[in-house]
Amino acid sequence: MEGIAPKAHRIAVLTGGRGRGSNLRAIHQHFKELGFPASVALVIGDRRQTPVCELCHDLELHFVYVSSKDMQSYEAEVIKLINEHQIELIALAGFLKLLSADFLSRVQVPVLNIHPSLLPKYGGAKMYGMKVHEAVFASGDKESGATVHEVSPIYDAGRIVKQKSVDISDCINSEEIAQKVLKIEHQIYAEAILQYLKS
Ligand code: GAR
Repeated sequence: MEGIAPKAHRIAVLTGGRGRGSNLRAIHQHFKELGFPASVALVIGDRRQTPVCELCHDLELHFVYVSSKDMQSYEAEVIKLINEHQIELIALAGFLKLLSADFLSRVQVPVLNIHPSLLPKYGGAKMYGMKVHEAVFASGDKESGATVHEVSPIYDAGRIVKQKSVDISDCINSEEIAQKVLKIEHQIYAEAILQYLKS
């Protein structure tokens, strides 16, 4: 007798206003290639008419707009949506605001983030996006990379789930570092999510 295929794990991706959606695309693609052991069941964005909205339209992903101007009501709305959509894990991809300890304990599903450096190096409140790569370039480091970590109420301080480094000794500016690191982000985020769900 043939076994019944296990149900795909339902993931939500939280994006921020400036996000391009490249990690969202990579996560969706990875799950699809593996035959959907997990699926992006919900995308929450805090701005309308962004590249992320267009991407969700193209990939037929369910996008919901929630304003993050008032973080208390944002968090309450996100918890409501997570419960309604039976989400098992939240992945932040370009969502840069701090989530509160209250939210993290009430949401009752793991919350992961991807950061474009080898944490604990180049993490913290003002370290995001190109600022990270500019600091890495200025330091003269020969390697950088990406880190998937649990979200905690302190920026980039949660337990590290997965990390991968890349040689940047031939990069002549921060944009080249950003490109190399983004490729690593796209390789490790979906893997880290699946690994986390299995553990
Ligand atoms: C990614 O590079 C991610 O590492 C970074 O935002 C970008 C979002 O890009 N996040 C941080 O810097 C968090 N501190 P994307 O919208 O193309 O996925």
